[in-house]
Amino acid sequence: MSEPARFLAAFAQALSTMALYGDGHPAREKAIDNAFEQLQSLQHHDPSARFSFLGAEVIYGERALRELREWEWGGRLAAAGIQRIELQPGVTREDYETFLGDIMARLTASDVDTTEQRQTRPSNIRFGAIGVRGASGLKAPSEALPTATITYTLGEEADAVRWLHDEVEHRGELPLVEAEAVVRSLSVAMHGESQVVIPLLELKEFDQYTTTHSMNVSVLAMALAEFMGLGKRDVRAYGVAGLLHDLGKVRIPREILVKPGRLTPEERAIMNRHPADGARIIFASDKQLDLAAVVAYEHHIMLNGGGYPCLHYGRDCHRASRLVHVCDVYDALRTRRPYRDAWESERALEYIESRAGTEFDPDVARAFCSMMRQLDRRLVVVDETTPVQRAGTTTTAAVPVGRNGGSE
Ligand SMILES: [Fe+2]
Ligand SMILES: [Fe+2]
Repeated sequence: MSEPARFLAAFAQALSTMALYGDGHPAREKAIDNAFEQLQSLQHHDPSARFSFLGAEVIYGERALRELREWEWGGRLAAAGIQRIELQPGVTREDYETFLGDIMARLTASDVDTTEQRQTRPSNIRFGAIGVRGASGLKAPSEALPTATITYTLGEEADAVRWLHDEVEHRGELPLVEAEAVVRSLSVAMHGESQVVIPLLELKEFDQYTTTHSMNVSVLAMALAEFMGLGKRDVRAYGVAGLLHDLGKVRIPREILVKPGRLTPEERAIMNRHPADGARIIFASDKQLDLAAVVAYEHHIMLNGGGYPCLHYGRDCHRASRLVHVCDVYDALRTRRPYRDAWESERALEYIESRAGTEFDPDVARAFCSMMRQLDRRLVVVDETTPVQRAGTTTTAAVPVGRNGGSE
């Protein structure tokens, strides 16, 4: 067995033992001692070891640990929102025991952490919700997910989406594993507790629009698909489609994307190419993503055939496209843009209702509006570094209303 596999085996053994024996029990102490020994010998060779747990795969650094394929703990950790563990030099036994306790609490959701406790925690072991290939160190320790499910930051996911767009733009390749990991992670953020919350990112800088917008549309599409009774697999597929719906924008020059005013007819024509471009990029990357490609192509087509790309023969768009279309417009309206302020949630919902049957599928629009009104108290507006508070949060920010809306 390789060093990292031995480390993980001892780590899992310690967790199993901790589940059985309380504080101070000799069996528990022995398992922690052994796990700590394995950690020291791993850190002797690799002081900054990193592990990611992605479905059935365990990734050590950049490579998959074949000997741990189908290792049950990988799936268990990932399902609890622990998709990455990063070690840094100088971990003491006490640090490690605290960390194991945190992981245990996360797995059993038995403990609720507090911010004060977290600040005193050692930061030389971090764990979080996603593994980003090539990430050169995480930022602030606050980006680690604390125990249980009380708080979340979406900073790592936002970084992953930015990186993903860069990869597509500069290398022409869509990193599917990471896209799916982001969606999985957003889904965990929505479902960490017994009730669903909708964590929406708030736009800080205009040039980050595509990142925050993609994540919001992904979250909204999953929530709506779930609300409409779709199965788990479909919900995830809709989440991926939502995340990638505007991927074609990587081909649009920045000055057009962030232009603080109305587009000229030429610029508008370039902008309107993003659905077809996005569909082509997705198809070329992975044939299995046909749903995401269809949604990218159709997300600006209206129920009455209006919008773009122009269909020569009227036909119904896929249900996923009709659903993403509503989520897309909602998020676009409630986000501040260079040429107008954000709309309040209720105003955006009324806009959607007024266009149900012409622009939007009436069933989808109705379901969306009733979901948003029902979940009103559970809409959570976050920025990338603000933890998503899971209880007693307010609804979307009320901001002055500006000129007319529209989405891209
Ligand atoms: Fe969009
Ligand atoms: Fe779009």
